[in-house]
Amino acid sequence: MRRAVGTILEAGFQMESEAFKTLVERGREDSLKPLVDEVLKMASSAQPRPLFISADLVLKAAEQLALADVAVVPVEGLGHGRRFAEDREAKLEVVFDPTGKLGTAGSIDDFLRYFRSRFEKMSNLFRQRIDTRSSGTIADALAGGTNGRGRFIAMVVEKREKGNRIFLTVDDYDDEATILVGDSNPTVWQTARRISRDQVLFLETRKSSGKLLVAENIVLPEIPDHRPGHASDEVYAILVSDVHVGSKVFMEDAFRRVLGWLKGEVGGPDQRHIADHVKYVVVGGDLVDGIGVYPRQEIDLKIPDIYEQYRLAAKFVADIPEHMEVVLIPGNHDAVRQALPQPKIPKEFAGPVYDSRRVVSLGDPSEVRMEGVDFLLFHGTSLMDIISSVPGSDYQRPVEVMEYQLRARHLAPEYGRGTSIGPEIEDWLVIEHVPDVFQSGHIHVPGSGVYRGTTIVNSGAWQGQTDYQKRMGLVPQPGLLPVVNLQSLQVRMMDFRSE
Ligand SMILES: [Fe+2]
Ligand SMILES: [Fe+2]
Repeated sequence: MRRAVGTILEAGFQMESEAFKTLVERGREDSLKPLVDEVLKMASSAQPRPLFISADLVLKAAEQLALADVAVVPVEGLGHGRRFAEDREAKLEVVFDPTGKLGTAGSIDDFLRYFRSRFEKMSNLFRQRIDTRSSGTIADALAGGTNGRGRFIAMVVEKREKGNRIFLTVDDYDDEATILVGDSNPTVWQTARRISRDQVLFLETRKSSGKLLVAENIVLPEIPDHRPGHASDEVYAILVSDVHVGSKVFMEDAFRRVLGWLKGEVGGPDQRHIADHVKYVVVGGDLVDGIGVYPRQEIDLKIPDIYEQYRLAAKFVADIPEHMEVVLIPGNHDAVRQALPQPKIPKEFAGPVYDSRRVVSLGDPSEVRMEGVDFLLFHGTSLMDIISSVPGSDYQRPVEVMEYQLRARHLAPEYGRGTSIGPEIEDWLVIEHVPDVFQSGHIHVPGSGVYRGTTIVNSGAWQGQTDYQKRMGLVPQPGLLPVVNLQSLQVRMMDFRSE
């Protein structure tokens, strides 16, 4: 217990005496360490960060653990009456859907217009902020004498590193300049290390000799700290993605348990209580495994026919209780154009899914408002690009990568890596509206956290490790279901892995 309290104090929190009592009661022997870890995780992600650990927080953490620990098992002979969510009207609005807005020939003009749109949208974001509202231009910064100050918005067109020095070539559509970032200012240098080509930044510079500008400050577009919307009472959304129906390692049994739980057929009392309050099911892409998505995918496929895959997927979707709303976006394994943004999966392929029940089918990315909570839904196709290029990122920590996207205010900051992006009239991948919940999948590792009032969730997967992932050294963590309480925005991970 002394060590546990020590850990909490070291993390920078004080403890209320009631919280100490609760910790003594709840955390016995081997359960104490996981409980303290959970308490710290919740306290660190709370907005604003609390100074004191309260008894309430300890209880919430204990509850969270209990839920994750208790595998969802069948309960015999449970009849049930009306369920909470059955008598509740859905409050679901589509705020943005790229479907129908897309189509580009990919000409030089299209590319120029696309980047111009990105630059304009990002510039507007900077102009809305007090600290970056007043800005000059690259020309102003270059016009001053030696040591003259500059403040301007620019896009990174090239990044080079020489030893500890980083050189950024930036452009503001009128002029170009070279920015030097030395390591004498560690904060600026760390920021520069993690930015990529094509990002739009606000720069504060000092003029050196010649045409070189030295970076004194680099400001990312960033999301403001904000108070998210919330439901008026206890209602839940479950976030599913990367089901990969048709794959040899699709975890059919675990996925059937999810459906059984939604129907109220399985689970302990706490879990059944939540199931009764689920009103929304969001499917964040890769509903099926598809065909020809990566080299030699055939050996990972149980169903090598895309139509057959969607027919089977439709049977699962049909099993979602009628009173729930289903929102579906595509992923890179779905049968729709691969370049981002993706329109909704066409009827030609997903027809059986659309015929199986009511489905709100949208493109990738999309924005929906559920119970006053703004969701940004993005499959996550670009996440691996960010992970492979940004120092310190790791696919086992998806929340940090998604936080990076929020700070860059862009879903695919660098153009032209592994993710193809359609040069559309507008850059729909700019995160213009600050989401309350930001969902992605794709990397098959679930996670949740809070960044500046935005709840970040990666919805994991329902597919075991494929031969392809084995060859690539990727270890997925499938079978965990994030459940979002739309009233409190707490996220719980429910474990459906074992019988
Ligand atoms: Fe996937
Ligand atoms: Fe994917």
